Amino acid sequence: MSWREIYESRKCTADEAVKLIKSNDNVILGHCICEPTGLVDAMVANYENYENVTVAHMVSLGKGEYTKPELKKHFRWEGFFCGGGTRKAVEEGHGDIIPVYFQDVPRWIRNGLLEYDVCMVMVSPPNEAGYCSMGVESGYTYQAVKSAKIVLAQVNKNMPRTFGDTFFHVSEFDRFVEMDMPLVESKPPVIGEAEKAIGKYCASLIEDGATLQLGIGAIPDAVLSELKDKKHLGIHSEMIADGVVDLVEAGVIDCSEKTLHNGKMIVTFLMGTKRLYEFADNNPMLELKPVDYVNDPAVIAKNNKMVSINSALQVDFMGQVVACSIGTRQFSGVGGQVDFVRGAAMAEDGKGVSIIAMPSVTVKKDGTVISKIRPYIDHGAAVTTNRYDVDYIVTEYGIARMKGKNLKERARALIDIAHPDVREELKEEFEKRFNVAW
Ligand code: COA
Repeated sequence: MSWREIYESRKCTADEAVKLIKSNDNVILGHCICEPTGLVDAMVANYENYENVTVAHMVSLGKGEYTKPELKKHFRWEGFFCGGGTRKAVEEGHGDIIPVYFQDVPRWIRNGLLEYDVCMVMVSPPNEAGYCSMGVESGYTYQAVKSAKIVLAQVNKNMPRTFGDTFFHVSEFDRFVEMDMPLVESKPPVIGEAEKAIGKYCASLIEDGATLQLGIGAIPDAVLSELKDKKHLGIHSEMIADGVVDLVEAGVIDCSEKTLHNGKMIVTFLMGTKRLYEFADNNPMLELKPVDYVNDPAVIAKNNKMVSINSALQVDFMGQVVACSIGTRQFSGVGGQVDFVRGAAMAEDGKGVSIIAMPSVTVKKDGTVISKIRPYIDHGAAVTTNRYDVDYIVTEYGIARMKGKNLKERARALIDIAHPDVREELKEEFEKRFNVAW
């Protein structure tokens, strides 16, 4: 059969495609913007056909309707990263988080620690050779497509075709459902005075010719806006957002000094607006590769002047970084933070820099101001980057380097970059904690 005949013979409606899901199946969704929202809606609408279907994914910007308490007999969420659609299910007890480094997800799928009956993805229409592109994602989804027993594809003409490991021949899919819709967008962060100051401090740690990793959240993308005077920056990153497009267009990011994949931006997924997705389409400067390659610290370390920039919810006096929980509440997941902190530390040229950048405080909706630098992490919180791996912490009040410092020196350096309103209180805690005068 020609690829066209294969494609035509496997085309069906969303309702027909999701009939291939059976009760008790494990279903994995394409990561982030690769989530096939049309197929997911059809699966949820047909809930009466299923009992105890487990749904898994990492970052999702979708509605997460399979986590509704009234559907818990039909669906159970068990994923690797919480977001707006799934946090509540974990809090209410009918959803679960599996702690796993992002880079391990494809390995765990390969070695059977994670097994999926069905994988549902969003892809571009086939090209002239009969290959569909997953466009915005390679991450874990590449392996999930290879390993799942059944693969259902939502074909969307708005999905870009990107280079790297994103293409699959039509014969690798069991059903195609043509459903065009705009890709989900994540808006760029609002950049205020604190973000600008953080960006400037981070910029002071970034040399011309550096290769950058940018983590998830508002701060890493905000940092990019302060890098307009740099030259020959490169990208080797788990994800990128719109800020990267500005710097490519300004000629700041050209990847010309990268020691690994010279001339190319290497990423595992895209999460931004239509502008980013259009930039990525058919752009040979960008390659998406699976996360077990991109986030492997030994691979990251091959990039000279590697700089990782990630964010945090809380940092304690010892430099322990909490980035995925607020007390016992699971807020997100480890993602690739630790992989890049370690990869930068191992950089073969010895010039790697890992930065945890965050505003000094967070202001809750009721006006409560909470210092993110604290004597101790909250009860029940999980450490994301531990005190042995952490290096630079940046707030809008400066830079505190952790490596090479004893515990008292770490605490002093952190209090110096805490919000001025809480410094006296933190100094008192310092005296109690270490039994010495400030
Ligand atoms: N105590 C209580 N609440 C806090 C808090 C603290 N110390 N710090 C932040 N919060 C609250 C904020 O008020 C905000 O609440 P809201 O949603 O009600 O407005 C919420 O937590 C999110 O905070 P914010 O600072 O806006 O987060 P962000 O979107 O910038 O993301 C992380 C920051 C740390 C959550 C995000 O970077 C993350 O998930 N990191 C882990 C994974 C990672 O680093 N991956 C890197 C490779 S991609």
